[in-house]
Amino acid sequence: MKQFERYLVTSALPYANGPLHLGHLAGAYLSADIYVRFQRLMGKDIVYICGSDENGAAITIRSKKEGLSPQEIVDKYDALFREVFEGIGISFDYYHRTSDPLHHETAQEFFKNLESKGEFVEKESEQYYDDSAKMFLADRYILGTCPKCSHEEAYGDQCENCGSALSPTELINPISTLSKEKPVLKKTKHWYLPLDKYEAWLREWIETGQLGEEQLHYPDEWKNHVLGQCRSWLDGGLQPRSMTRDLDWGVDVPKSIEGAEGKKLYVWMDAPIGYISSTKAWAKENGKDWEPYWKDDKTALIHFIGKDNIVFHCLIFPSILKAHGDYVLPINVPANQFLNLEGRKFSTSKNWAVWVNDYLKDFPGKEDELRYALIKNMPELKDSEFTWKGYQDANNTELVNNLANFVNRVIVLINKYYDGVVPDYDENLMITAAENEEDMAYHESEMLLLYDNLDSLCSALRKYDFRAALKKIMDISSLGNQLLQFNAPWKLVKTDEETVKVVMNLALQYVTAISVAIKPFLPFTSDKLRNLLQLELLQEKGELVDIMDDLAEGKNIIEIGHTIGKPTHLFTRIENSVMDEQRNKLFAGAVQEESEESQVKPNIAFEDFTKMDIRTATILTAEKVEKADKLLKLEVDLGFEKRTVVSGIAKFYKPEEIIGQEVLVLANLAPRKIRGVESKGMILMAENEEGRLSFVSPEKGWSNGFSVS
Ligand code: 2FM
Ligand code: ZN
Repeated sequence: MKQFERYLVTSALPYANGPLHLGHLAGAYLSADIYVRFQRLMGKDIVYICGSDENGAAITIRSKKEGLSPQEIVDKYDALFREVFEGIGISFDYYHRTSDPLHHETAQEFFKNLESKGEFVEKESEQYYDDSAKMFLADRYILGTCPKCSHEEAYGDQCENCGSALSPTELINPISTLSKEKPVLKKTKHWYLPLDKYEAWLREWIETGQLGEEQLHYPDEWKNHVLGQCRSWLDGGLQPRSMTRDLDWGVDVPKSIEGAEGKKLYVWMDAPIGYISSTKAWAKENGKDWEPYWKDDKTALIHFIGKDNIVFHCLIFPSILKAHGDYVLPINVPANQFLNLEGRKFSTSKNWAVWVNDYLKDFPGKEDELRYALIKNMPELKDSEFTWKGYQDANNTELVNNLANFVNRVIVLINKYYDGVVPDYDENLMITAAENEEDMAYHESEMLLLYDNLDSLCSALRKYDFRAALKKIMDISSLGNQLLQFNAPWKLVKTDEETVKVVMNLALQYVTAISVAIKPFLPFTSDKLRNLLQLELLQEKGELVDIMDDLAEGKNIIEIGHTIGKPTHLFTRIENSVMDEQRNKLFAGAVQEESEESQVKPNIAFEDFTKMDIRTATILTAEKVEKADKLLKLEVDLGFEKRTVVSGIAKFYKPEEIIGQEVLVLANLAPRKIRGVESKGMILMAENEEGRLSFVSPEKGWSNGFSVS
């Protein structure tokens, strides 16, 4: 790993178009927060940047839905995000918004820079247009089937199911999300980034970590699924991508550029630049210089995102940064996969979600319990799942039975035996080893064991292996519990007070180590522990380095003679009834899955309907068609003429049963030959969910030949 002087860490800017759910939290925020808090505890110069993504179609579509202006929408959700992120303890150094003028200026400067260097290709092309809404359709204004994974609700620029970057013209069966109509093509001019031109260096940079002479990262530090996605796009060949849109909400294409009128930047052009404007705003407010964080090659830039954003952060944004030329590239993009909820995908539209703001209201003071359950199940390498049962088990068996139990036993006994004062001890006395009941150990050797555990916790964190790191904390707590269990100070105190002092001092050193090491994962619990121990709250300024240095030298990390506080409960059990309530809330709030039948086909014009000539008729004769199980050859009386119609109803009706059946016939369907028989028209049938067919008839006694409209 290269040595860096500073870190710039980003979490994906959430679209300010709806509340955040647990899937968002587990995707791009908790992981980054753990990493950043850890590096701060290691004394690193690190800045954690985020902000609300407030431009583009995601916002205008929501504004229409809620009947609010786009500005009102982004104000509403930006405020909610700030509250929720703070509530759950995401420790951004700066949270900005892309509707801010500083962002508009920054994004426009970037665009001008690239345009002036000739990095864009200006091109007129045919784009989808909604004739009734009088609008070009891009991004979320157009839906269709993804050509890569067949997901039926892919957007014009992106399939959220497989993460592919798309163009509207690649969608199969595109429809306008405004009118639900099939769009038409119309000419418009845009600025394209010729990604095909960047393909070779992107491949070199991703595959080898090198750019020319320079080693920028080591590919084996990247997650396989991230590399895999990048490879598959590069192998498929990159296409020029439009960086502008015909929209009325977003960052204007700079006026100084010819043809800018009415054009906005593509939201995926401006949003990642939001990381830069957010850094600028942070620097301004804190009297710092933002530029080294983006332009000095001793900066480690790391993007935390969900897997649906990989293409934008690994290929498109790096191309934009490289085209500009002054900026560093990310050293890693440790994307997470998706979190599912109770066996289904999170879905905002179907309200299949646990909203973070709801959780905070329903479980006040239990922020870390949620963080714990989500980190334990973080979809680091593959999709994972949140269930209320899993949450309850993690709380009751790990947080309560293991961690809270250990801490409580230590605090209670130190208060009971020593009035809360950390006891002195004889370092030459041996105790039963925490790791194995058969072994004996000294205080010092058990402190080294603690050091080793903390060291491997740090290695896991540096590798973005947050689940393993969290497990290490629990391992330390389990060791502490074993130490107490094996040495049974409550019994030993009657016969050997001196050995009890060794055990209790050591146990308290373990609790102190946990109070520091747990901070990145469960920051509120760290504060509670520090209060319990009557130690200063962590400022995240190198405290982990301090305790590691002390432990390596065999020094204690909580002083002999220091007085700790009185016992309180760190975590409490969560009962079944509370979980039942949450499950009921989830199921009751979910919008029922739409069955295929209820999905009405795209609208057609009235004129299209009137083109159909549907008539009442009666079946005169019916017979099987040779070598065709499904077909019957019918002669129908249309009143004004008799016709032959071939119909696929043989599985449901015997020929003799349907003589005299009154039916509806589409009389002007172009004749076609079916199994050698010319069929002139079609009998209209209804089909149920099992595929059974039924005649649709006029009232009894109607004459043949009447038109149906
Ligand atoms: O997928 C999303 O929610 C986007 N708003 C993420 C943007 S990340 C960025 F680059 F700003
Ligand atoms: Zn797809």
